[in-house]
Amino acid sequence: MSEFITVARLPDLPVNGLLPVEANGVKIVLARSGDGVHALHDECSHEEFPLSDGELEGNQVTCLLHGARFDIETGAAKALPAVKPVRVYECRIEGDEIQVKLN
Ligand code: FES
Repeated sequence: MSEFITVARLPDLPVNGLLPVEANGVKIVLARSGDGVHALHDECSHEEFPLSDGELEGNQVTCLLHGARFDIETGAAKALPAVKPVRVYECRIEGDEIQVKLN
């Protein structure tokens, strides 16, 4: 059974920001939109480029390399050239800590 792991503090992640973190060696990008913080695997499903180098607009992160977009809540691919989703992780805020659960 996996537990929630603290990966960052909320003040370190501004609204509309992306933050690369690691949990047990797993690379994760935290994305904070107006409706909260979401955690995705930090790798584009197109060519393994880090999504944390991209840009967040609304609820979608755009990969810097070729422009694929992903829904930060579901990980679904929203724009070519990516067609596969990226993995999302359960994420919660405890006090000012951002915690992620690996599954
Ligand atoms: S590596 Fe992300 S769109 Fe190509």
